Amino acid sequence: MQLQHETLFNNAQQMLENERADYVRLHPQSMQLSVSANEHFLYGVPMHWMNDWGTPAPLFVKYAQGSHFTCVDDIYYVDFCLGDTGAMFGHCPPALAQAIAAQASAGFTTMLPSSLTPNVGEALADHFGLPYWQLATTATDANRFVLRWARAVTGRKKLLVFDGCYHGTFDDAMVDMTMRNETIVDAVVGKTINRSSLLGQVYDLGQYTVAVPFNDIATVERELAKGDIACLLTEPALTNCGMVPAKAGFIESLRNLTQQYGTLLVLDETHTISTGRGGWAKNHGVVPDFLVVGKPIAGGLPAAAYGFSAAMAEQMKAAKDQAPPGHSGIGTTLSGNMMTLAAIHATLTEVATDAAYAHMLGLAESLEDQLIASIKSHDLPWNITRLGARLELQFCEATPSNAEEARNAQNDVIESAIHLYLLNRGVLLTPFHNMMLVCPATSVDDVKRLAYIFDECLNELSN
Ligand SMILES: Cc1ncc(COP(=O)(O)O)c(C=O)c1O
Repeated sequence: MQLQHETLFNNAQQMLENERADYVRLHPQSMQLSVSANEHFLYGVPMHWMNDWGTPAPLFVKYAQGSHFTCVDDIYYVDFCLGDTGAMFGHCPPALAQAIAAQASAGFTTMLPSSLTPNVGEALADHFGLPYWQLATTATDANRFVLRWARAVTGRKKLLVFDGCYHGTFDDAMVDMTMRNETIVDAVVGKTINRSSLLGQVYDLGQYTVAVPFNDIATVERELAKGDIACLLTEPALTNCGMVPAKAGFIESLRNLTQQYGTLLVLDETHTISTGRGGWAKNHGVVPDFLVVGKPIAGGLPAAAYGFSAAMAEQMKAAKDQAPPGHSGIGTTLSGNMMTLAAIHATLTEVATDAAYAHMLGLAESLEDQLIASIKSHDLPWNITRLGARLELQFCEATPSNAEEARNAQNDVIESAIHLYLLNRGVLLTPFHNMMLVCPATSVDDVKRLAYIFDECLNELSN
Protein backbone atom coordinates (compact mmCIF):
# COMPACT_ATOMS: atom_id res chain seq x y z
CA MET A 1 0.00 0.00 0.00
CA GLN A 2 1.33 3.43 -0.90
CA LEU A 3 2.26 5.68 2.00
CA GLN A 4 -0.22 8.50 2.61
CA HIS A 5 1.12 11.81 1.38
CA GLU A 6 0.28 13.43 4.73
CA THR A 7 2.39 10.91 6.69
CA LEU A 8 5.30 11.47 4.33
CA PHE A 9 4.97 15.24 4.65
CA ASN A 10 4.79 15.13 8.46
CA ASN A 11 7.81 12.84 8.63
CA ALA A 12 9.71 15.16 6.29
CA GLN A 13 8.90 18.15 8.49
CA GLN A 14 10.22 16.34 11.54
CA MET A 15 13.30 15.19 9.63
CA LEU A 16 13.99 18.72 8.46
CA GLU A 17 13.85 20.05 12.00
CA ASN A 18 16.25 17.35 13.28
CA GLU A 19 18.65 17.77 10.36
CA ARG A 20 18.78 21.54 10.72
CA ALA A 21 19.81 21.11 14.38
CA ASP A 22 22.41 18.51 13.34
CA TYR A 23 23.79 20.83 10.65
CA VAL A 24 24.42 23.54 13.23
CA ARG A 25 26.13 21.05 15.55
CA LEU A 26 28.27 19.50 12.76
CA HIS A 27 29.36 22.76 11.10
CA PRO A 28 30.65 25.22 13.75
CA GLN A 29 33.25 26.74 11.37
CA SER A 30 30.70 27.32 8.59
CA MET A 31 28.32 28.87 11.15
CA GLN A 32 31.15 31.15 12.34
CA LEU A 33 32.24 32.13 8.79
CA SER A 34 28.69 33.03 7.86
CA VAL A 35 28.67 35.51 10.75
CA SER A 36 32.03 37.11 9.81
CA ALA A 37 31.30 37.17 6.05
CA ASN A 38 28.03 38.89 6.87
CA GLU A 39 29.99 42.00 7.85
CA HIS A 40 30.84 42.84 4.22
CA PHE A 41 28.77 40.57 2.00
CA LEU A 42 25.03 40.77 1.52
CA TYR A 43 23.62 37.70 3.32
CA GLY A 44 27.26 36.78 4.09
CA VAL A 45 27.89 35.28 0.63
CA PRO A 46 29.53 36.44 -2.64
CA MET A 47 26.28 35.85 -4.57
CA HIS A 48 22.98 36.34 -2.75
CA TRP A 49 21.51 33.01 -3.99
CA MET A 50 24.30 31.08 -2.24
CA ASN A 51 22.23 31.78 0.83
CA ASP A 52 19.23 29.90 -0.59
CA TRP A 53 20.50 26.32 -0.24
CA GLY A 54 18.19 25.55 2.69
CA THR A 55 21.00 25.00 5.22
CA PRO A 56 20.87 27.03 8.49
CA ALA A 57 24.04 28.80 7.23
CA PRO A 58 25.97 28.33 3.97
CA LEU A 59 28.40 25.44 3.75
CA PHE A 60 31.87 26.98 3.30
CA VAL A 61 34.25 24.94 1.14
CA LYS A 62 37.97 24.51 1.87
CA TYR A 63 39.13 22.22 -0.92
CA ALA A 64 37.64 20.42 -3.95
CA GLN A 65 39.24 17.68 -6.00
CA GLY A 66 37.76 15.10 -8.40
CA SER A 67 34.29 14.03 -7.21
CA HIS A 68 34.86 15.25 -3.64
CA PHE A 69 35.25 18.36 -1.56
CA THR A 70 36.00 19.18 2.06
CA CYS A 71 34.22 21.88 4.02
CA VAL A 72 35.83 24.18 6.57
CA ASP A 73 34.77 21.77 9.32
CA ASP A 74 36.94 19.09 7.65
CA ILE A 75 33.96 17.00 6.60
CA TYR A 76 34.50 15.08 3.38
CA TYR A 77 31.66 15.11 0.83
CA VAL A 78 30.85 13.20 -2.34
CA ASP A 79 29.76 15.93 -4.74
CA PHE A 80 26.81 15.11 -7.02
CA CYS A 81 26.05 18.83 -7.53
CA LEU A 82 29.38 19.56 -9.22
CA GLY A 83 28.74 23.30 -9.28
CA ASP A 84 25.40 22.63 -11.04
CA THR A 85 27.35 21.41 -14.12
CA GLY A 86 30.28 23.86 -13.98
CA ALA A 87 32.43 21.04 -12.57
CA MET A 88 30.74 18.28 -14.60
CA PHE A 89 34.17 16.96 -15.58
CA GLY A 90 35.26 16.85 -11.93
CA HIS A 91 37.04 19.38 -9.75
CA CYS A 92 40.55 20.30 -11.04
CA PRO A 93 41.12 17.54 -13.62
CA PRO A 94 44.95 17.25 -13.81
CA ALA A 95 45.22 18.06 -17.56
CA LEU A 96 43.19 21.23 -17.05
CA ALA A 97 45.08 22.25 -13.91
CA GLN A 98 48.36 21.87 -15.84
CA ALA A 99 47.09 23.91 -18.81
CA ILE A 100 45.90 26.69 -16.48
CA ALA A 101 49.20 26.66 -14.57
CA ALA A 102 51.16 26.92 -17.83
CA GLN A 103 48.99 29.79 -19.10
CA ALA A 104 49.21 31.53 -15.72
CA SER A 105 52.81 32.47 -16.46
CA ALA A 106 52.07 33.38 -20.11
CA GLY A 107 49.28 35.96 -19.75
CA PHE A 108 45.65 36.16 -18.66
CA THR A 109 44.01 38.71 -20.92
CA THR A 110 45.14 41.10 -23.69
CA MET A 111 41.98 41.90 -25.72
CA LEU A 112 43.76 40.11 -28.61
CA PRO A 113 43.36 36.54 -29.87
CA SER A 114 45.97 34.19 -28.39
CA SER A 115 48.05 31.81 -30.50
CA LEU A 116 45.73 28.97 -29.39
CA THR A 117 42.74 30.51 -31.22
CA PRO A 118 42.74 28.19 -34.29
CA ASN A 119 43.18 25.12 -32.07
CA VAL A 120 40.26 26.14 -29.86
CA GLY A 121 38.06 26.71 -32.93
CA GLU A 122 39.00 23.29 -34.20
CA ALA A 123 38.30 21.68 -30.81
CA LEU A 124 34.85 23.32 -30.58
CA ALA A 125 33.97 22.30 -34.15
CA ASP A 126 35.19 18.74 -33.61
CA HIS A 127 33.42 18.41 -30.27
CA PHE A 128 30.03 19.93 -31.07
CA GLY A 129 29.88 19.53 -34.87
CA LEU A 130 29.24 23.16 -35.90
CA PRO A 131 31.91 24.90 -38.00
CA TYR A 132 31.83 28.53 -36.70
CA TRP A 133 32.11 29.86 -33.15
CA GLN A 134 32.13 32.92 -30.93
CA LEU A 135 32.93 33.03 -27.22
CA ALA A 136 31.21 34.62 -24.24
CA THR A 137 31.99 34.62 -20.53
CA THR A 138 28.82 32.89 -19.37
CA ALA A 139 25.99 30.97 -20.97
CA THR A 140 23.71 33.84 -19.92
CA ASP A 141 25.74 36.17 -22.12
CA ALA A 142 25.92 33.66 -24.97
CA ASN A 143 22.10 33.44 -25.04
CA ARG A 144 21.81 37.21 -24.89
CA PHE A 145 24.24 37.62 -27.80
CA VAL A 146 22.55 34.93 -29.89
CA LEU A 147 19.19 36.67 -29.53
CA ARG A 148 20.79 39.89 -30.80
CA TRP A 149 22.28 38.09 -33.80
CA ALA A 150 18.99 36.35 -34.50
CA ARG A 151 17.10 39.64 -34.48
CA ALA A 152 19.77 41.32 -36.62
CA VAL A 153 19.78 38.48 -39.15
CA THR A 154 16.02 37.90 -39.44
CA GLY A 155 14.79 41.46 -38.93
CA ARG A 156 12.16 40.01 -36.57
CA LYS A 157 11.67 41.08 -32.95
CA LYS A 158 10.19 38.20 -31.00
CA LEU A 159 11.64 35.31 -29.00
CA LEU A 160 9.79 32.02 -28.41
CA VAL A 161 10.68 30.03 -25.25
CA PHE A 162 9.05 27.27 -23.24
CA ASP A 163 7.25 27.76 -19.97
CA GLY A 164 9.57 26.66 -17.13
CA CYS A 165 12.71 27.52 -19.09
CA TYR A 166 15.87 28.94 -17.58
CA HIS A 167 18.60 30.26 -19.83
CA GLY A 168 20.52 32.28 -17.24
CA THR A 169 19.76 35.76 -15.99
CA PHE A 170 19.16 36.99 -19.49
CA ASP A 171 16.03 39.08 -19.11
CA ASP A 172 14.20 38.22 -22.33
CA ALA A 173 13.77 34.59 -21.21
CA MET A 174 12.78 35.42 -17.60
CA VAL A 175 9.10 34.90 -18.24
CA ASP A 176 6.34 32.53 -17.16
CA MET A 177 3.06 31.47 -18.66
CA THR A 178 -0.06 32.20 -16.64
CA MET A 179 -1.69 29.00 -15.42
CA ARG A 180 -5.20 27.80 -14.72
CA ASN A 181 -4.63 27.45 -10.96
CA GLU A 182 -3.25 30.96 -10.37
CA THR A 183 -5.18 34.03 -9.39
CA ILE A 184 -4.85 35.98 -12.59
CA VAL A 185 -5.89 39.58 -12.56
CA ASP A 186 -7.08 39.69 -16.15
CA ALA A 187 -8.13 36.02 -16.14
CA VAL A 188 -6.11 35.19 -19.23
CA VAL A 189 -4.61 31.71 -19.29
CA GLY A 190 -1.44 31.07 -21.30
CA LYS A 191 -0.32 34.71 -21.30
CA THR A 192 3.43 35.47 -21.11
CA ILE A 193 4.29 37.53 -18.04
CA ASN A 194 7.49 38.64 -16.27
CA ARG A 195 8.70 35.97 -13.80
CA SER A 196 7.34 37.19 -10.48
CA SER A 197 10.70 36.73 -8.70
CA LEU A 198 12.59 38.92 -11.20
CA LEU A 199 14.01 42.02 -9.51
CA GLY A 200 14.18 45.45 -11.03
CA GLN A 201 12.67 44.75 -14.44
CA VAL A 202 10.47 47.59 -15.54
CA TYR A 203 9.62 46.43 -19.07
CA ASP A 204 6.79 44.08 -19.94
CA LEU A 205 8.83 41.15 -21.30
CA GLY A 206 5.67 39.64 -22.75
CA GLN A 207 5.79 42.32 -25.42
CA TYR A 208 8.58 40.55 -27.32
CA THR A 209 8.78 37.12 -25.67
CA VAL A 210 6.21 34.35 -26.04
CA ALA A 211 6.20 31.36 -23.68
CA VAL A 212 4.35 28.18 -24.65
CA PRO A 213 4.13 24.72 -23.02
CA PHE A 214 6.97 22.28 -23.74
CA ASN A 215 6.07 19.23 -25.84
CA ASP A 216 3.06 21.06 -27.34
CA ILE A 217 3.89 21.19 -31.03
CA ALA A 218 0.47 22.56 -32.12
CA THR A 219 0.89 25.67 -29.94
CA VAL A 220 4.45 26.15 -31.19
CA GLU A 221 3.23 26.02 -34.78
CA ARG A 222 0.40 28.47 -34.04
CA GLU A 223 2.96 31.00 -32.75
CA LEU A 224 5.53 30.42 -35.50
CA ALA A 225 2.88 30.81 -38.17
CA LYS A 226 2.41 34.45 -37.14
CA GLY A 227 5.75 35.07 -38.89
CA ASP A 228 7.26 37.43 -36.27
CA ILE A 229 9.47 35.09 -34.22
CA ALA A 230 13.20 35.70 -34.75
CA CYS A 231 14.30 32.61 -32.82
CA LEU A 232 13.03 29.75 -30.74
CA LEU A 233 15.34 29.18 -27.77
CA THR A 234 15.15 25.91 -25.87
CA GLU A 235 17.11 23.25 -24.09
CA PRO A 236 16.67 19.81 -25.69
CA ALA A 237 15.02 18.86 -22.36
CA LEU A 238 13.92 21.31 -19.69
CA THR A 239 16.42 20.83 -16.87
CA ASN A 240 15.69 23.71 -14.54
CA CYS A 241 12.13 23.00 -13.36
CA GLY A 242 12.87 19.42 -12.43
CA MET A 243 13.56 17.53 -15.63
CA VAL A 244 11.14 17.43 -18.56
CA PRO A 245 12.43 15.34 -21.46
CA ALA A 246 11.26 16.04 -24.99
CA LYS A 247 8.76 13.54 -26.35
CA ALA A 248 10.13 11.41 -29.18
CA GLY A 249 10.45 13.58 -32.30
CA PHE A 250 9.57 16.87 -30.56
CA ILE A 251 12.94 18.62 -31.09
CA GLU A 252 13.10 17.26 -34.65
CA SER A 253 9.63 18.76 -35.27
CA LEU A 254 10.86 22.09 -33.87
CA ARG A 255 13.72 21.91 -36.35
CA ASN A 256 11.32 21.34 -39.27
CA LEU A 257 8.76 23.94 -38.21
CA THR A 258 11.32 26.67 -37.52
CA GLN A 259 12.77 26.10 -40.97
CA GLN A 260 9.29 26.21 -42.50
CA TYR A 261 8.40 29.54 -40.84
CA GLY A 262 11.77 31.32 -41.17
CA THR A 263 12.56 31.21 -37.43
CA LEU A 264 16.05 30.34 -36.16
CA LEU A 265 16.37 27.37 -33.81
CA VAL A 266 18.71 27.94 -30.84
CA LEU A 267 19.55 24.92 -28.69
CA ASP A 268 20.98 25.80 -25.29
CA GLU A 269 23.07 22.78 -24.31
CA THR A 270 24.58 24.27 -21.17
CA HIS A 271 23.11 21.42 -19.11
CA THR A 272 22.28 18.78 -21.74
CA ILE A 273 25.99 18.53 -22.52
CA SER A 274 25.51 15.72 -19.97
CA THR A 275 23.82 13.61 -22.69
CA GLY A 276 27.06 12.39 -24.27
CA ARG A 277 30.22 13.79 -25.86
CA GLY A 278 29.16 16.71 -28.07
CA GLY A 279 25.77 17.18 -26.37
CA TRP A 280 22.20 16.16 -27.18
CA ALA A 281 21.92 17.66 -30.68
CA LYS A 282 25.06 16.03 -32.01
CA ASN A 283 24.07 12.68 -30.53
CA HIS A 284 20.57 12.92 -32.05
CA GLY A 285 21.51 14.26 -35.48
CA VAL A 286 19.69 17.60 -35.06
CA VAL A 287 21.52 20.65 -36.45
CA PRO A 288 20.29 23.90 -34.85
CA ASP A 289 20.98 27.36 -36.29
CA PHE A 290 22.81 28.25 -33.06
CA LEU A 291 24.14 25.98 -30.34
CA VAL A 292 24.93 27.48 -26.92
CA VAL A 293 27.32 25.82 -24.48
CA GLY A 294 28.69 27.12 -21.21
CA LYS A 295 29.50 26.09 -17.62
CA PRO A 296 31.83 23.03 -17.95
CA ILE A 297 33.52 23.83 -21.29
CA ALA A 298 36.47 25.43 -19.47
CA GLY A 299 36.19 23.01 -16.54
CA GLY A 300 34.48 25.61 -14.35
CA LEU A 301 36.42 28.75 -15.27
CA PRO A 302 33.93 31.32 -16.62
CA ALA A 303 33.51 30.54 -20.33
CA ALA A 304 30.76 29.94 -22.85
CA ALA A 305 30.52 29.59 -26.62
CA TYR A 306 27.97 29.59 -29.39
CA GLY A 307 28.31 27.73 -32.66
CA PHE A 308 26.61 28.19 -36.04
CA SER A 309 26.74 27.10 -39.67
CA ALA A 310 28.77 28.61 -42.51
CA ALA A 311 25.55 30.03 -44.01
CA MET A 312 24.65 31.66 -40.70
CA ALA A 313 28.19 33.07 -40.42
CA GLU A 314 27.66 34.82 -43.78
CA GLN A 315 24.35 36.32 -42.63
CA MET A 316 25.91 37.50 -39.35
CA LYS A 317 28.76 39.17 -41.20
CA ALA A 318 26.29 40.86 -43.55
CA ALA A 319 24.29 42.20 -40.59
CA LYS A 320 27.45 43.46 -38.86
CA ASP A 321 28.86 45.00 -42.04
CA GLN A 322 25.62 46.89 -42.69
CA ALA A 323 25.62 48.42 -39.20
CA PRO A 324 27.58 51.62 -38.51
CA PRO A 325 30.89 51.13 -36.64
CA GLY A 326 30.65 51.18 -32.84
CA HIS A 327 29.17 49.12 -30.02
CA SER A 328 27.31 46.08 -31.33
CA GLY A 329 25.89 45.13 -27.93
CA ILE A 330 27.63 41.76 -28.33
CA GLY A 331 30.70 40.94 -26.26
CA THR A 332 32.39 41.80 -22.99
CA THR A 333 36.02 42.76 -22.35
CA LEU A 334 37.13 39.52 -20.70
CA SER A 335 35.36 37.11 -23.08
CA GLY A 336 37.76 34.96 -25.10
CA ASN A 337 40.75 35.88 -22.95
CA MET A 338 44.00 33.89 -23.13
CA MET A 339 43.37 31.94 -19.94
CA THR A 340 39.88 30.92 -21.06
CA LEU A 341 41.15 29.74 -24.44
CA ALA A 342 43.77 27.54 -22.75
CA ALA A 343 41.16 26.12 -20.38
CA ILE A 344 38.60 25.38 -23.14
CA HIS A 345 41.27 23.70 -25.23
CA ALA A 346 42.46 21.43 -22.42
CA THR A 347 38.90 20.57 -21.36
CA LEU A 348 37.64 19.66 -24.82
CA THR A 349 40.72 17.80 -26.02
CA GLU A 350 41.99 16.11 -22.85
CA VAL A 351 39.19 15.98 -20.27
CA ALA A 352 35.79 15.61 -21.99
CA THR A 353 36.87 12.51 -23.88
CA ASP A 354 34.86 9.53 -25.12
CA ALA A 355 36.35 7.47 -22.29
CA ALA A 356 35.28 10.07 -19.70
CA TYR A 357 31.71 10.06 -21.02
CA ALA A 358 31.60 6.25 -21.14
CA HIS A 359 32.52 6.18 -17.45
CA MET A 360 30.00 8.90 -16.53
CA LEU A 361 27.10 7.37 -18.45
CA GLY A 362 27.75 3.85 -17.16
CA LEU A 363 27.85 4.96 -13.52
CA ALA A 364 24.84 7.26 -13.92
CA GLU A 365 22.84 4.31 -15.25
CA SER A 366 23.90 2.21 -12.30
CA LEU A 367 22.90 5.04 -9.92
CA GLU A 368 19.53 5.30 -11.66
CA ASP A 369 18.91 1.55 -11.16
CA GLN A 370 19.84 1.73 -7.48
CA LEU A 371 17.66 4.79 -6.77
CA ILE A 372 14.68 3.32 -8.62
CA ALA A 373 15.04 0.06 -6.68
CA SER A 374 15.02 2.03 -3.44
CA ILE A 375 11.94 4.07 -4.43
CA LYS A 376 10.11 0.89 -5.46
CA SER A 377 11.00 -0.96 -2.28
CA HIS A 378 9.43 1.91 -0.31
CA ASP A 379 6.40 1.92 -2.60
CA LEU A 380 6.73 5.66 -3.27
CA PRO A 381 5.01 7.29 -6.28
CA TRP A 382 8.26 8.96 -7.42
CA ASN A 383 10.46 8.66 -10.49
CA ILE A 384 14.04 9.17 -11.63
CA THR A 385 14.59 10.82 -15.01
CA ARG A 386 18.06 10.52 -16.52
CA LEU A 387 19.74 12.43 -19.33
CA GLY A 388 23.15 10.83 -19.78
CA ALA A 389 25.20 11.69 -16.70
CA ARG A 390 22.42 13.78 -15.15
CA LEU A 391 19.62 12.40 -12.96
CA GLU A 392 16.58 14.04 -11.44
CA LEU A 393 14.41 12.68 -8.63
CA GLN A 394 10.80 13.86 -9.06
CA PHE A 395 7.89 13.40 -6.67
CA CYS A 396 5.46 12.06 -9.28
CA GLU A 397 4.92 8.61 -10.73
CA ALA A 398 5.36 9.49 -14.40
CA THR A 399 8.00 11.78 -15.87
CA PRO A 400 6.41 15.23 -16.41
CA SER A 401 5.77 16.33 -19.97
CA ASN A 402 5.68 20.08 -19.31
CA ALA A 403 6.62 22.62 -16.64
CA GLU A 404 3.14 22.73 -15.12
CA GLU A 405 3.27 19.00 -14.37
CA ALA A 406 6.85 19.37 -13.07
CA ARG A 407 5.81 22.23 -10.76
CA ASN A 408 2.84 20.26 -9.46
CA ALA A 409 5.22 17.46 -8.45
CA GLN A 410 7.45 19.75 -6.39
CA ASN A 411 7.37 19.55 -2.61
CA ASP A 412 9.76 21.93 -0.89
CA VAL A 413 9.59 20.29 2.54
CA ILE A 414 10.30 16.74 1.32
CA GLU A 415 12.98 18.04 -1.01
CA SER A 416 14.75 20.06 1.69
CA ALA A 417 14.56 17.18 4.17
CA ILE A 418 16.21 14.77 1.70
CA HIS A 419 18.91 17.29 0.73
CA LEU A 420 19.83 18.06 4.33
CA TYR A 421 19.71 14.41 5.43
CA LEU A 422 22.20 13.55 2.65
CA LEU A 423 24.37 16.62 3.25
CA ASN A 424 24.70 15.84 6.97
CA ARG A 425 25.97 12.39 5.91
CA GLY A 426 28.52 13.68 3.41
CA VAL A 427 26.60 13.65 0.11
CA LEU A 428 25.75 16.83 -1.82
CA LEU A 429 22.86 17.17 -4.31
CA THR A 430 22.10 20.23 -6.45
CA PRO A 431 19.93 22.78 -4.64
CA PHE A 432 16.56 24.15 -5.85
CA HIS A 433 15.60 20.77 -7.30
CA ASN A 434 16.81 17.15 -7.02
CA MET A 435 19.60 16.90 -9.56
CA MET A 436 22.54 14.50 -9.35
CA LEU A 437 25.44 14.58 -11.76
CA VAL A 438 28.15 11.96 -12.25
CA CYS A 439 31.66 13.11 -13.29
CA PRO A 440 34.65 11.20 -14.69
CA ALA A 441 36.16 11.00 -11.19
CA THR A 442 32.98 9.64 -9.56
CA SER A 443 33.65 6.11 -8.32
CA VAL A 444 31.47 3.02 -7.87
CA ASP A 445 31.82 3.60 -4.12
CA ASP A 446 30.63 7.22 -4.44
CA VAL A 447 27.49 5.99 -6.17
CA LYS A 448 26.95 3.22 -3.61
CA ARG A 449 27.29 5.77 -0.84
CA LEU A 450 24.58 8.02 -2.30
CA ALA A 451 22.27 5.05 -2.97
CA TYR A 452 22.78 3.67 0.55
CA ILE A 453 22.15 6.98 2.34
CA PHE A 454 19.17 7.73 0.10
CA ASP A 455 17.70 4.35 1.07
CA GLU A 456 18.25 5.08 4.77
CA CYS A 457 16.57 8.45 4.27
CA LEU A 458 13.53 6.80 2.68
CA ASN A 459 13.39 4.33 5.60
CA GLU A 460 13.07 7.26 8.01
CA LEU A 461 10.65 9.20 5.82
CA SER A 462 8.33 6.21 5.44
CA ASN A 463 8.32 5.14 9.06
C1 LIG B 1 20.16 25.87 -19.67
C2 LIG B 1 20.95 26.99 -19.09
N1 LIG B 1 21.39 27.95 -19.89
C3 LIG B 1 22.11 28.99 -19.42
C4 LIG B 1 22.41 29.07 -18.08
C5 LIG B 1 23.20 30.24 -17.58
O1 LIG B 1 24.47 29.86 -17.19
P1 LIG B 1 25.37 30.93 -16.41
O2 LIG B 1 24.71 31.13 -15.10
O3 LIG B 1 26.69 30.24 -16.30
O4 LIG B 1 25.40 32.15 -17.24
C6 LIG B 1 21.96 28.09 -17.21
C7 LIG B 1 22.26 28.17 -15.77
O5 LIG B 1 21.87 27.37 -14.97
C8 LIG B 1 21.22 27.02 -17.72
O6 LIG B 1 20.74 26.07 -16.93
